[in-house]
Amino acid sequence: MIDLTTQYAGLTLRNPIIIGSSGLTSSPERNKEYEKAGAGAIVLKSLFEEQIEMQSSDLMKISDYPEATDYIREYVKTNQINNYLEVIKKTKATCSIPIIASINCYKADAWINFARQIEQAGADALELNVFYMDTDLAHDYDSTRAMYVNIIRKVKETISIPVIMKIGKFFSNIPALVHILKINGADGIVLFNRFYRPDIDINTVQLVSGNVFSSHADLGDTLRWTAIVSGKIPGFSISSSTGVHDWEDVIKCLLAGASTVQMCSAVYTHGSEIISQVLTCVEEWMTQAKYNSISQFRGKLNYANINNPGMYERSQFMKYFSNRD
Ligand SMILES: Cc1cc2nc3c(=O)[nH]c(=O)nc-3n(C[C@H](O)[C@H](O)[C@H](O)COP(=O)(O)O)c2cc1C
Repeated sequence: MIDLTTQYAGLTLRNPIIIGSSGLTSSPERNKEYEKAGAGAIVLKSLFEEQIEMQSSDLMKISDYPEATDYIREYVKTNQINNYLEVIKKTKATCSIPIIASINCYKADAWINFARQIEQAGADALELNVFYMDTDLAHDYDSTRAMYVNIIRKVKETISIPVIMKIGKFFSNIPALVHILKINGADGIVLFNRFYRPDIDINTVQLVSGNVFSSHADLGDTLRWTAIVSGKIPGFSISSSTGVHDWEDVIKCLLAGASTVQMCSAVYTHGSEIISQVLTCVEEWMTQAKYNSISQFRGKLNYANINNPGMYERSQFMKYFSNRD
């Protein structure tokens, strides 16, 4: 009997496959489908700090009463938050797998009260997608890092459900960032969020949106940093995200040290059926490799467990290219 259960940020999941935060997970009915299809957990679509701010400023533009500003801002926020809390409550009412709420934010203070409401609505955990791309010439790395630390610290002071940080991959020392987030209370880390990608249309000479979906080619960075963080911060929960498209990718992430994986683009492309297909193949692979449980092979190829950890580093890249004609 194959045991696919995994521990992630203090939660027990029946298997490591999480449906990543996106439009896929914005309705309770669809979330029930993912549970039926076999998902181990679901991260709800994020409520965006920017989205609330944008909507309130749009409404404020059409208001004749400047003094109504605070009222409108508060009204929009309350309305959005109430809708979000309803999705949590309705999803929890029909699903028994863990439901992880998600906030996409870049400031701590505005979200403290909301985090409390999320907990009260019944979410099993909270994922904080800190969406911040620093381009200010006057900022230094320490101030960016301090912003992330401030957010996790304040949210952890407020709620007692597990809090997981979801970060992008554009940091100069990812293990050090993860380490300081752990010290300040993070229960797990998602490696990585995938930022909106700009592209340029050379016919219209305009900036356009790049491909919103990832591809297999994106998995390399996810594997590298999963393996390095898993090796350097043993026992810390990692969810590998970006570029996980099939059952082989799932096994690779687990070997690199992930507790869970998140799938988003693949579910958009293939539908919920992909979940059961992936689970069946993972079980077949485990049977052939004579593993009964994930803990028997999780992290087997992480940075601490391989003979040549430099394989995960740049020196191998140099070697590879210097040998090519
Ligand atoms: C259409 C779309 C909407 C998304 N919306 C969110 C969101 O609301 N919050 C969030 O944290 N990530 C969001 N993401 C990012 C995904 O959760 C995920 O991190 C990213 O797509 C990488 O995973 P993948 O390679 O499996 O697609 C979105 C991705 C897509 C494609």
